Amino acid sequence: MDRNAVAAAFAALEAHRVEVAARRAIDFFAEDTKRFEHFSARLDDLLYDYSKNRLTRATLGHLFDLARAARLEERREALFTGGKVNNTEQRAALHVALRNFSGEAVRVDGENVMPAVEAERAKIAAFAAEVRQGAILGARGHAYTDVVNIGIGGSDLGPAMAARALSPFTSPELRAHFVSNVDGADIADTLAALDPARTLFIVSSKTFTTQETMANAATARAWIAAALGEAAVGDHFAAVSTHLDRVAAFGVRPDRVFGFWDWVGGRYSMWSAIGLSLAIAIGPDQFEDFLRGGHDADQHFRNAPMSHNIPVLMGLIGVWHRNIWGFAAQAVIPYDQRMARFPAYLQQLDMESNGKSVMRDGAPSPRATGPIVFGEPGTNSQHAFFQLLHQGTEVVPVDFLVAAEPTDADEKHHELLFANCLAQGEAFLRGRSEREVRDILRAEGLSASQIDALAPHKTFSGDRPSSTLLYRRLDPRTLGRIVALYEHKVFVQSVIWDINPFDQWGVELGKELCNRLAPLVADARADLAGLDGSTAGLISARRALTAC
Ligand code: F6P
Repeated sequence: MDRNAVAAAFAALEAHRVEVAARRAIDFFAEDTKRFEHFSARLDDLLYDYSKNRLTRATLGHLFDLARAARLEERREALFTGGKVNNTEQRAALHVALRNFSGEAVRVDGENVMPAVEAERAKIAAFAAEVRQGAILGARGHAYTDVVNIGIGGSDLGPAMAARALSPFTSPELRAHFVSNVDGADIADTLAALDPARTLFIVSSKTFTTQETMANAATARAWIAAALGEAAVGDHFAAVSTHLDRVAAFGVRPDRVFGFWDWVGGRYSMWSAIGLSLAIAIGPDQFEDFLRGGHDADQHFRNAPMSHNIPVLMGLIGVWHRNIWGFAAQAVIPYDQRMARFPAYLQQLDMESNGKSVMRDGAPSPRATGPIVFGEPGTNSQHAFFQLLHQGTEVVPVDFLVAAEPTDADEKHHELLFANCLAQGEAFLRGRSEREVRDILRAEGLSASQIDALAPHKTFSGDRPSSTLLYRRLDPRTLGRIVALYEHKVFVQSVIWDINPFDQWGVELGKELCNRLAPLVADARADLAGLDGSTAGLISARRALTAC
């Protein structure tokens, strides 16, 4: 990329901000009665409304200039065509190949990966169907009633989020569970309700070395062996990894091992065999619909002009907020209870991808990168942290996600849910001026001194940015679209900031230090010399507490 051109585009945006800051977003609607149409984009029945943000056509023009200066289109092409976009690991990041239904080849180092992708896809579908139909049985001849995915991070969050989001598409006879935390309470609480003879474990780990997953897999293995005998283990485990040798050493039968490739990043892997638990939960046809939704978003991202391209717009508006206005956080609020795990999923996707301080070439980033992402479903979050969003000193842009109609839920409830979502967006946009507040309080009969005392507390600044993703209903295809749109949004921002979104060196140091500390925690007599005072003090304090 041409860093000077990017810097110039940022400078133009900074200068332009002064003009926009002098105006209120609500006034833009009065000036342009078609603002909603002009500032929204569609992917079939999915609508992205960004009209409530404080930006104009000129803002978009400057943002598109920035995208061109960062060579977004070129980098996007590299992503789709197997370029080594993950430069620190010298790998492609080809999650788009996993959901490619175009019939076109996708090459990595000159080799078309689609035959292998399609073969693995077929294997996943066949296994999922067999488990669901009871064609594969446990060691005692029982059909499985419970499938437990053991994995963490990208080997957990995506399938766990999607299985919950798509619960109306699951069958009550086959329940999916997700165990991730090394805290033994996680697996203990899950196993407490399960029958070993009817339980299938799927150990999901790209590396098959992740401490948490290996510890939980060992506990699950011991649980099966204790209940059904060592010989039963093979009938109650399947595994997903890129390291098939390590899987074999664990003792999983070869016909129950599912592979993927090092060009699939962990947090982009739910489209691969890492989605096996999801495929079993919702069935292979629905899983294919989910993949097709991802493919829809890929086509849109690759082909739609910038002005109508949802991930491009989402990404650039995020840059406008993060870099030009200095907003440090991004809230994601699904008005959809079954999307409860979506914010957690997105935290990994966004923060593990763009939580970087150096650019692709190792030089320090001259500007802020990924935002702090958080969220909870509405309406619950309204009664938790929305106070700060409305009146706090931090401005936090919000993405609302909401369906036009419920999936397997009450219509009346849904109308209330939908109205709540709109009400929050409207409140963020409009706010309530002190004059309005004073008029209202006067009409309520309050005295002048009461009005003086209360007015500042009841005033809302407004101009708190929000965007809304509206979809018809939360089905597999729609979820696939939403997930892939966010993946591409994160990619767009990484291009603007010129960082590598596909590595995660930041999580390595903690892992390394844990390996050093674990023996010191386990052995009460181990020497703590060389540790910092706090770490040593906490280990000693624990030793004292556990000794009595
Ligand atoms: O948290 C770090 C991380 O490496 C993630 O990127 C990854 O999704 C997760 O750990 C799990 O890794 P694995 O699938 O190899 O067990």
